[in-house]
Amino acid sequence: MYDNNPTLVGIRKEIDESRQGEAFYLERADNSIEGSRFFYIESYGCQMNFSDSEIVASILAEAGYRPTRAMEEADLILINTCSIREKAEETVRKRLRLFDKLKAQRPGALVGVLGCMAERLKKKLLEEEKLVDLVIGPDAYRDLPALIQGAEEGEKGINVLLSREETYADISPLRLDSNGVSAFISIMRGCDNMCSFCVVPFTRGRERSRSAFSIVAEARSLFEKGYREVTLLGQNVDSYKWENPESGQLTTFAELLEMVAQLDPTLRVRFSTSHPKDITDEVLYTMARYDNICNYIHLPVQSGNSRILELMNRTYDREWYMDKVRRIYEIIPDCAISSDIITGFCTETEEEHQDTLSMIEFANYSMSYMFFYSERPGTLAARKYPDDIPMNVKKRRLQEVIRLQTQVSFRHNQADIGKTFQVLIEGDSRKSESEFRGRNSQNKMIVFPKVKGLKPGDYTWVRVNEATSATLKGEVVEKT
Ligand code: 5AD
Ligand code: SF4
Repeated sequence: MYDNNPTLVGIRKEIDESRQGEAFYLERADNSIEGSRFFYIESYGCQMNFSDSEIVASILAEAGYRPTRAMEEADLILINTCSIREKAEETVRKRLRLFDKLKAQRPGALVGVLGCMAERLKKKLLEEEKLVDLVIGPDAYRDLPALIQGAEEGEKGINVLLSREETYADISPLRLDSNGVSAFISIMRGCDNMCSFCVVPFTRGRERSRSAFSIVAEARSLFEKGYREVTLLGQNVDSYKWENPESGQLTTFAELLEMVAQLDPTLRVRFSTSHPKDITDEVLYTMARYDNICNYIHLPVQSGNSRILELMNRTYDREWYMDKVRRIYEIIPDCAISSDIITGFCTETEEEHQDTLSMIEFANYSMSYMFFYSERPGTLAARKYPDDIPMNVKKRRLQEVIRLQTQVSFRHNQADIGKTFQVLIEGDSRKSESEFRGRNSQNKMIVFPKVKGLKPGDYTWVRVNEATSATLKGEVVEKT
């Protein structure tokens, strides 16, 4: 079992555009340690990828490497990549060209591609691009030290084997970029859903769940180190299912959620991402039963139109999704729901696009991640349907979706004015050292003036006085 290095501290930003390409770093002057070899790692894509980078960091630390934020002093430069849209891959290619220039000034340094692009492009990255020394897929990180050694001896290193078992259950991630308050715990890997637009089943392989005991142990250890919020992560957390090899007993996602929530009432539990077809009443009732399970569900709709949903192979239609949303608000009335939305999917008409707009209103999403469709080679959609919506139409529809979601988010946030929420303090606000920021149960960021005696990791009650479409502002009050 690898252990965390307690001297590594940093800042965690939201899972938003500003995190893309973030590099982990050392805050202390550990760079002075003689004879150490340094690695630099940049991460792109989803939260799973950022989480994987912490597993990679742990494996490298065990092999004697130390992280650095300065790529110029790194012996090993790694880029953990995303293939979800074409733009994500373009960004990575640009970075690789930059790393290649840097290598000219630092002979002996190695460059490695990790993650989904490594898995999708495999040998091509070594042969055609010739920009990299190592290519390692998401299930092959344990092989990294051996591949590095080979590369140092002049071999090109590649391992893109996908596994049916690998969950890195025994590896304690090196939390390099943490605020010390909230952390992500990967509970499963891969995806069996086969949404027709999505490259993930090809880059991350079959779905497999990690041992419930190792998840609970990781959460307990984080709590003991002072963390107060864990987010259980997976491509499709609601289909988590783990069979105890000794007793044969099955643990469902609802049971796992309960096990983590029972660790301590002051440990908040979140999860992401939920597929609407898999989130059960049992999960919703478990959320309602425990105050420390946050009232927030990321429930990607992708499209609000039944014909498009069928082409997307989402396995639910508009009415079914609407029933699910009604059920959530019925069982957890103050739950916030967010979404992922794709505009301009193959053959989408203007009327069908209107259905997506009306769904945003109906579901009253607190926020959404919104994209225009980007055809990915090898996916079901790329093989079966024409990518026939012109780029200007895709982008115009996206703008309409963004405009409406911004209005709905604004309204959602305005409705919080005058309410008092329990907030877990994460750190200073981005704009001012005289303010704290933290989230309420609904995952909304609230900024408020600092009050003596409070520090990150503490809970406090905040009354909301102002709201934009993105943030709430308030002040600390006594609990009413
Ligand atoms: N084009 C555009 N968006 C996509 N997503 C996944 N694949 C594509 C694609 N080919 C979006 C989906 C998913 C989120 C992570 O990315 O909305 O939920
Ligand atoms: Fe990108 Fe999907 Fe891979 Fe995450 S799993 S890095 S979103 S392609």
